[in-house]
Amino acid sequence: MKVDIKGVKEYMNNNIIEELKYFDSVTSTNELALNMVSSKIQEGDVIIGGEQTKGRGRLKRNWYSPQYLGLWFSIIVKPAKDFERIPLLTLIGALSVQQAIKNIKINSDLKWPNDILYNNKKVGGVLSQFRSDGSEIDRVVVGIGLNVNQREFPEELQDNSISLRMIKGTVIEKEKLLADILDNFSDFYKLFKDGEYSKIICSWKKEMSMLNKQIIINSSNGNKMKGKVVDISNKGELIIENTKGVKQKFIAGDVSIDKNSLRF
Ligand code: BTN
Repeated sequence: MKVDIKGVKEYMNNNIIEELKYFDSVTSTNELALNMVSSKIQEGDVIIGGEQTKGRGRLKRNWYSPQYLGLWFSIIVKPAKDFERIPLLTLIGALSVQQAIKNIKINSDLKWPNDILYNNKKVGGVLSQFRSDGSEIDRVVVGIGLNVNQREFPEELQDNSISLRMIKGTVIEKEKLLADILDNFSDFYKLFKDGEYSKIICSWKKEMSMLNKQIIINSSNGNKMKGKVVDISNKGELIIENTKGVKQKFIAGDVSIDKNSLRF
């Protein structure tokens, strides 16, 4: 069923969220939010899609977004901060989802920088994109995809994907879930605006099972490194320590557990 916007609003508390704009079918809510003329969009607007025909994932992947079975939406923010803090908004998006699904008693795991996992399968993800006017950020679009009521996935996704319904064994109400995610986002975004980055990072690290684990990271510039995850910086970078005790920061990359380190 379609998400009932009136129902979402009834569940929502006072927060930074302005208008909820629903479209039954879109290519991608991120694409739409990025392309809208500035006069038609303001901070706190949310673009929601009933389905996405060209949903985008990180690293140029597609994001499977079948009609009415998930939450596919983008939150628009206009932070008066420097570009280097944008990655924190992805962390905020993932944390907001992770905490909202805790309310329905699902304990998921955050995988840096944008994955919400359950039993190592992906239940949700975040893709943040921005539009700039030269040196200024015009808007950041925090795109969130959450697998809610799918009963199955296409074969190529089956091994790595899961929905809330598959976890709980029952249909999940999307309105309350979306309201909770938006409320959480507002709370974390307020911390962000106040420069309280360490509070955000502290909450994130509590939900991140890779902390203190040996991992392999394929960074965005093609480097591969093995090491232990020791921290996340206040800019959202992952901090890895190698066997010689040397620490390195990564702003983007694909992380996986180093299986060799588990053998003894
Ligand atoms: C990922 O895990 O790779 C990120 C997935 C992000 C998907 C969401 S769905 C709503 C928004 N619109 C998009 O096209 N992508 C994001």
